[in-house]
Amino acid sequence: MFGWCTTGVLAEYACAEQDNFASKPANLSFEQAAAVSVSGTTALQALRDQGEVRRGQKVLIVGASGGVGTFAVQIARSLGAEVTGVCSTRNVDMVRSIGADHVIDYTKEDFTQSGQRYDVIFDNAEAHSLSECRRALAPKGTYIPNRGSGGRWIGPLGRIAKARFLSLFSRQKLRPFLSRENRDDLLALAELIAAGKLTPVIDRAYPLSQAAEALRYVGEGHTQGKVVVTV
Ligand SMILES: NC(=O)c1ccc[n+]([C@@H]2O[C@H](COP(=O)([O-])OP(=O)(O)OC[C@H]3O[C@@H](n4cnc5c(N)ncnc54)[C@H](OP(=O)(O)O)[C@@H]3O)[C@@H](O)[C@H]2O)c1
Repeated sequence: MFGWCTTGVLAEYACAEQDNFASKPANLSFEQAAAVSVSGTTALQALRDQGEVRRGQKVLIVGASGGVGTFAVQIARSLGAEVTGVCSTRNVDMVRSIGADHVIDYTKEDFTQSGQRYDVIFDNAEAHSLSECRRALAPKGTYIPNRGSGGRWIGPLGRIAKARFLSLFSRQKLRPFLSRENRDDLLALAELIAAGKLTPVIDRAYPLSQAAEALRYVGEGHTQGKVVVTV
């Protein structure tokens, strides 16, 4: 089985409702299965539901090497998009290997300055301002911020509120969202995995006794895919 019980729990046993789980695809290890639910669901809902990605569209995944980004690159590909991933130098080959058609190394090139326009930008890093990102967006494109960063006073809500406000005056769509775990999406992810279109990228696995170290590593914000804690 794979699924979720709640956020913020690392334990040998946890209770969860039956509907929060789906059968583990046979081609996944238990470590890989543990990595799927939250990041996979987030990437799926961002691209399929918020971005409404269609075949042939140009999709930019910023933070393509991270926990959510590695799912997003593969899901965008499975939706038929032409995918560009943004990551740092050490991750360029990995992001290409999971299916990105193009990779931008953000330490050498700024995607907001390249003149290229994308139909959908899924931004897991939010290292640029909203107006800079909109320069890289097609006139009717969709920008999906996913980090929840924002101003000093109201934090993440600042960027979300600004995105909603700007949506009122532009044909460009700005779609901040909160992912909602549900069984149907787990089944959709399982189908992609079983078909060989989606494989979780695991950076490291830590034993439960080293959970604090695992969380410290994740907190640094430079994982290559997902970090798993094993019991
Ligand atoms: N909307 C929701 O409901 C929802 C659900 C889950 C998660 N999230 C959010 O999604 C965000 C991403 O999560 P995650 O698990 O993927 O984080 P993560 O694993 O820490 O990945 C972040 C990635 O961003 C890259 N990065 C850092 N600076 C960058 C820059 N300037 N330009 C481009 N890429 C950069 C890093 O790559 P390098 O190592 O190459 O720098 C890293 O791979 C988090 O803020 C999380 O809170 C939102």
